[in-house]
Amino acid sequence: MTHPAVTEHPVYNYKVVRQFAIMTVVWGIVGMLVGVLIAAQLAYPALNFDLPWLSFGRLRPLHTNAVIFAFGGSALFASSLYVVQRTCQARLISDGLASFVFWGWQLVIVLAAVTLPLGYTSSKEYAELEWPIDILIAVVWVAYAILYFGTITKRKMSHIYVANWFFGAYIITIAVLHIVNSAAVPVSLTKSYSAYSGTIDAMVQWWYGHNAVGFFLTAGFLGIMYYFVPKQAERPVYSYRLSIVHFWALIAIYMWAGPHHLHYSALPDWAQSLGMVMSLILLAPSWGGMINGMMTLSGAWHKLRSDPTLRFLVVSLSFYGMSTFEGPMMSIKTINALSHYTDWTIGHVHSGALGWVAMVSIGAMYHLIPVLFGRKDMHSIKAINAHFWLATIGTVLYIASMWVNGIMQGLMWRAYNNDGTLTYSFAESVLASHPGYIVRLIGGAMFFLGMLIMAWNTWKTVSPGTAPVTNAQAQPA
Ligand code: HEM
Ligand code: HEM
Repeated sequence: MTHPAVTEHPVYNYKVVRQFAIMTVVWGIVGMLVGVLIAAQLAYPALNFDLPWLSFGRLRPLHTNAVIFAFGGSALFASSLYVVQRTCQARLISDGLASFVFWGWQLVIVLAAVTLPLGYTSSKEYAELEWPIDILIAVVWVAYAILYFGTITKRKMSHIYVANWFFGAYIITIAVLHIVNSAAVPVSLTKSYSAYSGTIDAMVQWWYGHNAVGFFLTAGFLGIMYYFVPKQAERPVYSYRLSIVHFWALIAIYMWAGPHHLHYSALPDWAQSLGMVMSLILLAPSWGGMINGMMTLSGAWHKLRSDPTLRFLVVSLSFYGMSTFEGPMMSIKTINALSHYTDWTIGHVHSGALGWVAMVSIGAMYHLIPVLFGRKDMHSIKAINAHFWLATIGTVLYIASMWVNGIMQGLMWRAYNNDGTLTYSFAESVLASHPGYIVRLIGGAMFFLGMLIMAWNTWKTVSPGTAPVTNAQAQPA
């Protein structure tokens, strides 16, 4: 992956960061291509081709694993391993361990890409991979934790920058969640049964599932936000004190919100209500963080006119604000009675996933790639701008169509006639959803097209011929 034209940084290990940064783009394209395919299947079921390997049921977990763990994961590995070195002014403790983490994670992804279409699954959402792969994940993750925290202990200053707090919390929590939720009894190499049963299994699964959102899709990406927004805006973070309050409030509250995924289920009612209340409280730290990021632009708003990378970062924060407002609303039991099982949830997921996670990652990569390859900037700023508009309009089309579909489905399913019979059959609600599925497909395809432009731009930036910049790698932390 290292290009001959790239001079190695004298102090830091940039190789592993470069590897993960490039794979962020690659896995983004793969994961979103599968997303576009399953979006097309929901609009046109014939695209399942009557083949089990290409069926929606098998490709859906492939999509979620690819976008969350391969694309999002690579962005998190790249940025955390970069930020920890720069803000601690220390090289990663071991180049060998860094290589192991990179290749180990790629192996996990390849194994997922093979086993999921073949139909091997533990059937736990976002934790579908079977036990041998789970063990590999645990080993790679522990290696990552040693690499990361080992580097923090070698830091040259006493202070630990707040981005590292968020990365640290995400690394520790994901280890705990993964190990506890994956506990299973293997019956063969490719089949296991959960160590938990019934309602407890559901509770453990959604304690995992929700905190995977909270710590993988949120805390880790907030680490990215706290480093790359101030960096790109060339302003200090708005309030350091707020960032500390944000951190402690967020990690203290997230853990308790999982039961909002199990409303009206066999879970005890008090646990459901606790999940709802904690979700409502979660609005405060979430917005505190969003405001902290936004206000960092004080005095630098004019930069948005000329800097599409900064636009990615700021718009990602707006979507973060939107999805963390929507989430607490959806956790209210009476609202969840309408939204659950409908496309509204899918809209909420993608306002977080496309609007927040993907956009903040893309912004960070546009900042990082030129630095890592010793270039002054990305090859084409116009292309970043085109990507920005495709991504923004694509996200809006996606989530707006799912809101319309979701609320319509919820209302159709609960409509009764005077004699107590249902007003609509389920098939009628599917038919009514068809236009929304087409709009979502268009939005998703636009987002995907933006990723292809990013790949072209990245290729042009890292390939020889672009003038290397001598001092780009020596910029201060
Ligand atoms: C081109 C972009 C994308 C498209 C077209 C797309 C499309 C889809 C589709 C069609 C589904 C299945 C919906 C259903 O079952 O009704 C889905 C599910 C999901 N996608 Fe995406 N997706 C995209 C990007 C992403 C990204 C970047 C992420 C995460 C970072 C993501 C995370 C998820 C998750 C978590 C689910 C499962 C939602 C749930 O179970 O409630 N997607 N996606
Ligand atoms: C304050 C913050 C948030 C709260 C309180 C919250 C709350 C909720 C609620 C109530 C649901 C619906 C559960 C159901 O009916 O099954 C949900 C689903 C979901 N949310 Fe959020 N949300 C928040 C932020 C986010 C963010 C920022 C993301 C993504 C980056 C996200 C990703 C998801 C996913 C993936 C699901 C679908 C889970 C599944 O059923 O497969 N959420 N959330």
